[in-house]
Amino acid sequence: MNIETRLAQSGSRRDPSTGAVTVPVYNSATYRHPALGQSTGYDYSRSKNPTRQALEDAVADAENGARGLAFSSGLAAIDNVLRLLKPGDKIVVTEDLYGGTYRLFQQVYAVYGIKAQYVDTSDIAAVKGALNDNAVKMIFVENPTNPMLKVADIKAISAAASAKGVLTVVDNTFLSPCLQNPLDLGADIVLHSATKYLGGHNDVVAGVLAVKDAELGEKLAFYQNAVGSVLGPNDAWLVLRGMKTLHLRVKQQEQNAFEIAEFLEHHPLVTNVNYPGLKTHTGYNILKEQAKGFGAMVSFEVADAALVPLVLERVGVFLFAESLGGVESLITFPAVQTHADIEPEVRERLGVTDRLLRISVGVENAEDLINDLAQALQGGTDG
Ligand SMILES: Cc1ncc(COP(=O)(O)O)c(C=O)c1O
Repeated sequence: MNIETRLAQSGSRRDPSTGAVTVPVYNSATYRHPALGQSTGYDYSRSKNPTRQALEDAVADAENGARGLAFSSGLAAIDNVLRLLKPGDKIVVTEDLYGGTYRLFQQVYAVYGIKAQYVDTSDIAAVKGALNDNAVKMIFVENPTNPMLKVADIKAISAAASAKGVLTVVDNTFLSPCLQNPLDLGADIVLHSATKYLGGHNDVVAGVLAVKDAELGEKLAFYQNAVGSVLGPNDAWLVLRGMKTLHLRVKQQEQNAFEIAEFLEHHPLVTNVNYPGLKTHTGYNILKEQAKGFGAMVSFEVADAALVPLVLERVGVFLFAESLGGVESLITFPAVQTHADIEPEVRERLGVTDRLLRISVGVENAEDLINDLAQALQGGTDG
């Protein structure tokens, strides 16, 4: 079946006793055993819950993986993956990435002796150079990157990593399984902040991952149960419901993003637009080859830092809020919001300047969104 069909019917045939078309929310912490030494397959909801299981299976299915796992947030999913490392191990990480992920590496795992080395993962030579260190056991690639939308060649990176016995992990949050399937490109683990496109309605915080290898999935499931950062059944149900319409939303969001990126590209007060769907973008050709689309995340620089607070105040359709991937269009100021935990000099070097704004394009009418940005930019700092 094609992904649209599989997504629309996520969790739909799981209750033969009633024939319920949507998976029920199993709000049960524990499960009665038929007899001593016997189990229904469910013992305690930290280990396994039928609603969470339905989501985990849907995620594995959407990403063409052997197993899926669902967590209380995207960061909890990343934390689960990092449990595979031990003190002294190194991890190669995309240098331009979500600030919370950077904080997890720098302020939590570094304390336990797991060192992150940041590289430009859009530069395959730089990646290969970093992989030459024998202490490197994992490479973590955010693709496209947040917020600069740089694009990595996942196939080339996975091949180089696997030749060195290094695990490849891809944060696929920005493109969703509808547009990019890293496991098919050779990655070992794919993960998402399900808070974003999978949930899709800005109403739930969740994280998921999928793996190609069942044995690796078992290891990660052990840590999931041992650590306990599982997703509750009500939230699992919300993510599952979101996934049923993922393909429709992503299509509309991407179409809107194209139109907005083109509008911004021609605006006199916009000096730079980062959207990989623009033919001038350095990652356009790679994404055209390895993905089914370019997504709906756009970042852009305005001519004057003084314009940033004015745009954020003036927008009336875009909501000034952190996060992304939902039906509502959001506008974010990365330097002080999503990327505040990255040192100013690093931010500046990566291009996360005090003139950079990031938008997550929703499913609204494109003309309304463009008119909103036009009026917010109009007159610049004098308007
Ligand atoms: C690319 C990316 N990965 C991971 C996360 C973390 O996810 P969560 O906020 O669900 O913990 C985010 C959050 O913004 C993100 O943008």
